[in-house]
Amino acid sequence: MNDHDRSAIAIPASIANVGAPELTVVVPTYCERDNVPPLIDRIKIALRDVDWEIVFVDDDSPDGTAALIKSIGASDRRIRCIRRMKRRGLSGACIEGMMSSQAAYVAVIDADLQHDERLLPQMLERLRSGEADIAIGTRYQSGDVPGLSSARLTTSRLATWIAVRLLGIRASDPLSGFFMLRRSIVETVAPRLSTQGFKILVDILATSGTRASVVELPYTFQARQHGESKLNGQVVMDFTGLVLAKITDDVIPTRFLSFLLVGAVGVLVHLTFLGLLLSQSGIKFVWAQTGATLAAMTSNFLLNNALTYRDQRLLGLKALLGFAIFSVVCSLGAASNIAIASWFYGHQTSWWLAGLLGSIVSAVWNYAVSNTLVWTALSRRRKSCLDSKPGMDSEAA
Ligand code: GDD
Ligand code: MN
Repeated sequence: MNDHDRSAIAIPASIANVGAPELTVVVPTYCERDNVPPLIDRIKIALRDVDWEIVFVDDDSPDGTAALIKSIGASDRRIRCIRRMKRRGLSGACIEGMMSSQAAYVAVIDADLQHDERLLPQMLERLRSGEADIAIGTRYQSGDVPGLSSARLTTSRLATWIAVRLLGIRASDPLSGFFMLRRSIVETVAPRLSTQGFKILVDILATSGTRASVVELPYTFQARQHGESKLNGQVVMDFTGLVLAKITDDVIPTRFLSFLLVGAVGVLVHLTFLGLLLSQSGIKFVWAQTGATLAAMTSNFLLNNALTYRDQRLLGLKALLGFAIFSVVCSLGAASNIAIASWFYGHQTSWWLAGLLGSIVSAVWNYAVSNTLVWTALSRRRKSCLDSKPGMDSEAA
């Protein structure tokens, strides 16, 4: 397009000069069709005196949530939807929504009407006045929590205790999914946030440390009206992984724990197959051991692909290629395990310590190398055409 063409496009000044809104409200959604219209109506009322936008982040819900949001947004530019393909995860969705914002302040609220949107103006006021950097909607200061079963309440309290004790977080409900903060904080901590799991606020609070001041506003966590909670047993593992990562300053990555547990299951698979194969008469030990090793490697790959890397799951040909690389990496890991353990054992180390040292080295090797060569390499597209050095993106520079 030359200068002449460009000047021919007349953009009304009223549109061209409209800047970013003051507040972006990020709403993660997975199958929330029935909750979206009432939520939008409620937010419009709550924020009638504020310049806002809502960014829904939908993981391609099969119930058509994204299409519904886009049809509403067609007549209201303040309402947008990021439709993410082939990905799942609450934390990752929240991060992506926040990263799309150009506003001074960003809020996160669930779509299912369990959070009280009427707190949003108060949260904004606290941030505007400079009283705090992060405002949290807390479930535990107003007494009743109708939206939580007693089992979830107990688990939630235990996880809160862990976050407060081990991560030094000073907030009564760091597990809340309802909060608002300055966007500058998110931009700073974003590279260190885990996209896995449900507990994005714990991650933000732990990563930003004492630099960010917190204010808490109580509300009553309501019961869900439509649809179901997506929180499942995996959240416990994700949370434990997150705590480990944060207390070790990311030396032990969030996924490592899940990788180790899958490895432990692999040992059981190995022994079961070995026993089964040996019980067939005529099979030599070395073949039974080879078969059992293959079975364990296959189960490890499938479980890691389904659980540890469920947000980067490999499918089709990539899964086959990934399995081939994974098998080579783990075979090298096993060889180094045996070599290291034998060396220590030959140098006056007790059998269990020699065995343990070999296993630790091979577990770290298996994790680090397969993480890079299998899931990161095969699932990710290239970051940038000119990206040769890490940390050289425009935000860091
Ligand atoms: N995009 C996307 N992808 N959204 C998701 C996903 C996902 O994989 N899983 C859940 N969501 C959306 C839901 O549609 C809902 O809007 C919101 O995230 C919360 O999910 P729920 O399944 O309703 O979770 P919950 O009510 O059990 O727990 C929530 O509230 C608690 C209290 O604030 C979570 O936010 C917890 O982290 C929080 O502690
Ligand atoms: Mn909910």
